[in-house]
Amino acid sequence: MLTKEQLERLNDQVNTEASVSRLYLAVSCWAASKGLDGVARFFKGHHEEEEEHMHKIENYIISTGGKVSIRAIEAPPSDFKDVLSVLKMALKKEIEVSSNINKMVHLFLEEKNYSTFNFLQWFVAEQHQEEHLFRSLIDKAELIGTDEKGVFWLDKELKNVSQAK
Ligand code: FEO
Repeated sequence: MLTKEQLERLNDQVNTEASVSRLYLAVSCWAASKGLDGVARFFKGHHEEEEEHMHKIENYIISTGGKVSIRAIEAPPSDFKDVLSVLKMALKKEIEVSSNINKMVHLFLEEKNYSTFNFLQWFVAEQHQEEHLFRSLIDKAELIGTDEKGVFWLDKELKNVSQAK
Protein backbone atom coordinates (compact mmCIF):
# COMPACT_ATOMS: atom_id res chain seq x y z
CA MET A 1 0.00 0.00 0.00
CA LEU A 2 1.40 3.36 -1.05
CA THR A 3 0.64 6.74 0.47
CA LYS A 4 -0.65 9.49 -1.80
CA GLU A 5 2.78 11.13 -1.91
CA GLN A 6 4.58 7.84 -2.55
CA LEU A 7 2.21 7.09 -5.43
CA GLU A 8 2.81 10.57 -6.80
CA ARG A 9 6.60 10.07 -6.75
CA LEU A 10 6.34 6.76 -8.59
CA ASN A 11 3.97 8.24 -11.17
CA ASP A 12 6.44 11.12 -11.62
CA GLN A 13 9.06 8.51 -12.43
CA VAL A 14 6.76 6.82 -14.97
CA ASN A 15 6.55 10.22 -16.63
CA THR A 16 10.32 10.78 -16.48
CA GLU A 17 11.04 7.38 -18.06
CA ALA A 18 8.50 8.15 -20.81
CA SER A 19 10.15 11.48 -21.46
CA VAL A 20 13.68 10.01 -21.69
CA SER A 21 12.30 7.25 -23.91
CA ARG A 22 10.87 9.81 -26.38
CA LEU A 23 14.11 11.78 -26.34
CA TYR A 24 16.16 8.70 -27.24
CA LEU A 25 13.67 7.80 -29.96
CA ALA A 26 14.07 11.32 -31.41
CA VAL A 27 17.87 10.95 -31.34
CA SER A 28 17.60 7.56 -33.05
CA CYS A 29 15.45 8.98 -35.87
CA TRP A 30 17.77 11.99 -36.27
CA ALA A 31 20.84 9.70 -36.47
CA ALA A 32 19.15 7.39 -38.99
CA SER A 33 18.36 10.38 -41.21
CA LYS A 34 22.08 11.31 -41.13
CA GLY A 35 23.18 7.81 -42.15
CA LEU A 36 24.61 7.12 -38.67
CA ASP A 37 23.20 3.60 -38.41
CA GLY A 38 25.21 2.60 -35.33
CA VAL A 39 24.11 5.68 -33.40
CA ALA A 40 20.50 5.13 -34.54
CA ARG A 41 20.55 1.52 -33.40
CA PHE A 42 22.17 2.36 -30.07
CA PHE A 43 19.57 5.00 -29.21
CA LYS A 44 16.69 2.85 -30.48
CA GLY A 45 17.86 0.19 -28.04
CA HIS A 46 17.99 2.76 -25.26
CA HIS A 47 14.54 4.02 -26.18
CA GLU A 48 13.26 0.45 -25.79
CA GLU A 49 15.05 0.09 -22.44
CA GLU A 50 13.42 3.26 -21.13
CA GLU A 51 10.01 1.92 -22.20
CA GLU A 52 10.77 -1.21 -20.16
CA HIS A 53 11.71 0.92 -17.15
CA MET A 54 8.43 2.77 -17.48
CA HIS A 55 6.45 -0.50 -17.66
CA LYS A 56 8.35 -1.92 -14.67
CA ILE A 57 7.19 1.00 -12.51
CA GLU A 58 3.63 0.89 -13.89
CA ASN A 59 3.42 -2.82 -13.06
CA TYR A 60 4.79 -2.22 -9.59
CA ILE A 61 2.24 0.52 -8.90
CA ILE A 62 -0.56 -1.78 -10.08
CA SER A 63 0.76 -4.64 -7.92
CA THR A 64 0.38 -2.43 -4.83
CA GLY A 65 -3.23 -1.60 -5.74
CA GLY A 66 -2.24 1.94 -6.78
CA LYS A 67 -3.40 3.84 -9.84
CA VAL A 68 -1.06 4.65 -12.72
CA SER A 69 -1.48 8.11 -14.21
CA ILE A 70 -0.15 8.51 -17.73
CA ARG A 71 0.54 12.17 -18.39
CA ALA A 72 1.31 14.31 -21.39
CA ILE A 73 5.00 14.78 -22.05
CA GLU A 74 6.82 17.60 -23.76
CA ALA A 75 7.90 16.79 -27.31
CA PRO A 76 11.66 16.24 -27.65
CA PRO A 77 13.70 18.20 -30.22
CA SER A 78 13.94 16.64 -33.68
CA ASP A 79 17.33 18.08 -34.51
CA PHE A 80 20.65 17.70 -32.71
CA LYS A 81 24.10 19.23 -33.16
CA ASP A 82 26.33 16.17 -33.37
CA VAL A 83 26.95 12.75 -31.83
CA LEU A 84 29.20 13.96 -29.01
CA SER A 85 26.70 16.58 -27.87
CA VAL A 86 23.95 13.96 -28.00
CA LEU A 87 25.99 11.64 -25.76
CA LYS A 88 26.61 14.52 -23.34
CA MET A 89 22.90 15.33 -23.32
CA ALA A 90 22.09 11.67 -22.59
CA LEU A 91 24.57 11.59 -19.70
CA LYS A 92 23.02 14.75 -18.25
CA LYS A 93 19.56 13.13 -18.51
CA GLU A 94 20.76 9.93 -16.86
CA ILE A 95 22.29 11.93 -13.99
CA GLU A 96 18.92 13.65 -13.50
CA VAL A 97 17.17 10.26 -13.50
CA SER A 98 19.68 8.91 -10.96
CA SER A 99 19.05 11.90 -8.73
CA ASN A 100 15.27 11.28 -8.87
CA ILE A 101 15.76 7.60 -8.08
CA ASN A 102 18.08 8.41 -5.17
CA LYS A 103 15.54 10.85 -3.73
CA MET A 104 12.87 8.15 -3.95
CA VAL A 105 15.12 5.55 -2.33
CA HIS A 106 15.69 7.98 0.54
CA LEU A 107 11.97 8.71 0.89
CA PHE A 108 10.89 5.06 0.90
CA LEU A 109 13.58 4.08 3.40
CA GLU A 110 12.68 6.96 5.71
CA GLU A 111 9.03 5.98 5.52
CA LYS A 112 9.90 2.32 6.18
CA ASN A 113 8.34 1.14 2.93
CA TYR A 114 10.89 -1.64 2.49
CA SER A 115 9.09 -3.33 -0.37
CA THR A 116 9.37 -0.26 -2.62
CA PHE A 117 12.85 0.45 -1.31
CA ASN A 118 13.79 -3.05 -2.43
CA PHE A 119 12.03 -2.62 -5.80
CA LEU A 120 14.05 0.55 -6.45
CA GLN A 121 17.41 -1.17 -5.94
CA TRP A 122 17.23 -2.51 -9.50
CA PHE A 123 16.99 1.08 -10.76
CA VAL A 124 19.95 2.18 -8.61
CA ALA A 125 22.14 -0.48 -10.24
CA GLU A 126 20.77 0.28 -13.72
CA GLN A 127 21.49 4.00 -13.35
CA HIS A 128 25.05 3.27 -12.28
CA GLN A 129 25.55 1.20 -15.45
CA GLU A 130 23.93 3.80 -17.70
CA GLU A 131 25.99 6.68 -16.36
CA HIS A 132 29.16 4.62 -16.66
CA LEU A 133 28.35 3.66 -20.26
CA PHE A 134 27.68 7.23 -21.41
CA ARG A 135 30.73 8.57 -19.54
CA SER A 136 33.05 6.03 -21.13
CA LEU A 137 31.65 6.70 -24.62
CA ILE A 138 32.14 10.45 -24.14
CA ASP A 139 35.72 9.91 -22.92
CA LYS A 140 36.50 7.73 -25.93
CA ALA A 141 34.85 10.18 -28.36
CA GLU A 142 36.84 13.08 -26.92
CA LEU A 143 40.04 11.08 -27.14
CA ILE A 144 39.58 10.05 -30.76
CA GLY A 145 38.23 13.44 -31.88
CA THR A 146 35.05 14.37 -33.67
CA ASP A 147 36.27 14.94 -37.22
CA GLU A 148 34.82 12.72 -39.97
CA LYS A 149 37.03 9.76 -39.06
CA GLY A 150 36.13 10.16 -35.39
CA VAL A 151 32.40 10.17 -36.15
CA PHE A 152 32.85 7.10 -38.38
CA TRP A 153 34.62 5.30 -35.53
CA LEU A 154 32.02 6.39 -32.98
CA ASP A 155 29.18 5.13 -35.18
CA LYS A 156 30.90 1.72 -35.38
CA GLU A 157 31.57 1.71 -31.64
CA LEU A 158 27.92 2.42 -30.83
CA LYS A 159 26.89 -0.36 -33.19
CA ASN A 160 29.24 -2.77 -31.35
CA VAL A 161 27.85 -1.69 -27.97
CA SER A 162 24.29 -2.31 -29.23
CA GLN A 163 25.23 -5.78 -30.49
CA ALA A 164 26.91 -6.68 -27.20
CA LYS A 165 23.73 -5.93 -25.22
FE1 FEO B 1 15.44 4.65 -17.12
FE2 FEO B 1 18.03 5.56 -18.27
O1 FEO B 1 16.65 5.99 -17.14
